[in-house]
Amino acid sequence: MISFSTPLTDALGIDIPILLAPMAGGPTTPELVSAVSDAGGFGQFGAAYLDGTAIRATAGELQSRTNKGFGINLFIPEDPTVTEEETAAATAAIAEYFAQFGAPVPDSVANVMPDFDEQIAAVIESGIKLCSFHMGLWPQSAVDDLKAAGIVTVTSVTSVAEGHVAESSGIDFIIAQGGEAGGHRGTWIGDWEDSMTGTMSLVSQLTSTLSTPVIAGGGIMDGRGLAAALALGACGVQMGTAFLSCPEAGVHPSYKQALLNAEDDTTTVTKTFSGRPARGLRNRYINEMESSNAPILPFPLQNSLTGTLRKAAAEANDTDFMSMWCGQAASLSRGLPAAELIETIVAEYQEAANSAFHSSIG
Ligand SMILES: Cc1cc2nc3c(=O)[nH]c(=O)nc-3n(C[C@H](O)[C@H](O)[C@H](O)COP(=O)(O)O)c2cc1C
Repeated sequence: MISFSTPLTDALGIDIPILLAPMAGGPTTPELVSAVSDAGGFGQFGAAYLDGTAIRATAGELQSRTNKGFGINLFIPEDPTVTEEETAAATAAIAEYFAQFGAPVPDSVANVMPDFDEQIAAVIESGIKLCSFHMGLWPQSAVDDLKAAGIVTVTSVTSVAEGHVAESSGIDFIIAQGGEAGGHRGTWIGDWEDSMTGTMSLVSQLTSTLSTPVIAGGGIMDGRGLAAALALGACGVQMGTAFLSCPEAGVHPSYKQALLNAEDDTTTVTKTFSGRPARGLRNRYINEMESSNAPILPFPLQNSLTGTLRKAAAEANDTDFMSMWCGQAASLSRGLPAAELIETIVAEYQEAANSAFHSSIG
């Protein structure tokens, strides 16, 4: 049996340097998070949309399911202001889609993201092992408070510039989110279009420049990907898409099927659903909104605006209007239970590592 020893396995006390990517909005169910931790990896719950009370309840549920550690992930808050005219234009642009499902068009759009300080307080009180951030520059006080409470801190970066700022905050681990990655781009310095460096290039440049350990994320679906990431100097991987088709994932059955049917060119990065660029499967909604250059509100307002549309589409089993976030390697999805997937990845890792060794001496 192979044994891994990296700064990540050491800090988290885990056997396998695989983090389940936190996926807010449903995919990372307590069942999936605990299955990954129980299988020797490390589960993370996407709690961005949960308030402090819900985070405490989720942490309690996870603690009753597993005696292994797990992480909670939060989004750095954004509070954009928009005019009534902008809201009206963005609402009018999608009104016909609501009508198609018989769903009421929202008469107002509010920033419904929970209070960030309450979320941090709940993480600290719940005795969670790790807290990770996405989508922004975090308040230094939050990093300091979490670290003082003995919680491992993590943030994602999409460029070397972000990596340097992250390192200077004293964060424990840095996720290198490559351009292949599924879900929202985490970019928080400069334009997202300038921060689409692929996982391989980003990990190599970060591990060459930083002393903070780097975790690779984006397009990693199997043991070959894990071997490649470790060879580039990463201390582990964060995998999202690979776990979306697991039976334990909270993902609509048609979305899971679409992942299993995906090809190399079926994803795109779009702002049309949430107002923030995110990678997912291209569908009719994205195509029409982009080709008509429809007005879009900034995150999280567009996300609130399309919320009932996405829900109605899911209820009607209509993938044309669901946001099906996933990375560029979705076609390698396998639909295995999480524990079996992790076991398979470790076996593949071993095979990849052996063949690299043989070719170097052959
Ligand atoms: C459905 C989905 C939801 C995601 N939600 C989050 C999230 O809530 N927080 C976060 O830090 N990253 C989120 N991500 C991004 C992942 O952390 C990670 O960067 C990505 O999954 C890695 O690429 P991969 O999907 O190709 O494995 C999400 C990704 C997906 C596919």
